[in-house]
Amino acid sequence: MSDARTPVIEYISKLFAAEDHLLQNVLHQQKEGGGPMMNIGPDQGKFLYLLTQIHRPKSILEVGSYFGYSSIWIARALEKLGQGLLTCAEISEKQCEIIKNNLIKANLNNFAEVKQGSGIDLMQKFIDESKTFDMIFIDADKNNYPNYFKLSSKLLNSGALLLIDNCLWDGKVVDQNFSDLQTETY
Ligand SMILES: C[S@@+](CC[C@H](N)C(=O)[O-])C[C@H]1O[C@@H](n2cnc3c(N)ncnc32)[C@H](O)[C@@H]1O
Repeated sequence: MSDARTPVIEYISKLFAAEDHLLQNVLHQQKEGGGPMMNIGPDQGKFLYLLTQIHRPKSILEVGSYFGYSSIWIARALEKLGQGLLTCAEISEKQCEIIKNNLIKANLNNFAEVKQGSGIDLMQKFIDESKTFDMIFIDADKNNYPNYFKLSSKLLNSGALLLIDNCLWDGKVVDQNFSDLQTETY
């Protein structure tokens, strides 16, 4: 997925991915918090929502949840299906509390749980527990993407979906002027 905000994307978002009061409030919390706006866009949220509804996963892992914006889009699709559980793996204790509260506010706590820890440790723990997923969405520390990819291969059920945000790194992957570690990692 790419985070580029073009007029066409804005147009599509307004038409097909309108944010309700709750999602707008999550964005407001992020702004108030003063940190970067690291959430996916509403068009991507709606895309995740639709993929979840079409694929009907019983178990989903999200690595990197921040304020829970993308988690809410995904868990709402599970709620609509009336089945499934989203596991949010998030390293920051503070963010975990915020995500939990936002999921409660959205009445989604039956469809999502929050696990605090590093993505690598949690994924390894799930492998050790023989846990598997029908869909994994990676949106955390970019330098670990190759590790997340390797670990995902041990966690995904046959026919599962693996979704990775920022893969094109705002077009830097094809720009010879960028050779920093993150760009090279992609
Ligand atoms: C881009 S934000 C996630 C945005 C979220 N998916 C959304 O669209 O609303 C990245 C998140 O990954 C978390 N993170 C960073 N390093 C991590 C790691 N090693 N393990 C798990 N989470 C990590 C950060 O704390 C942050 O909350």
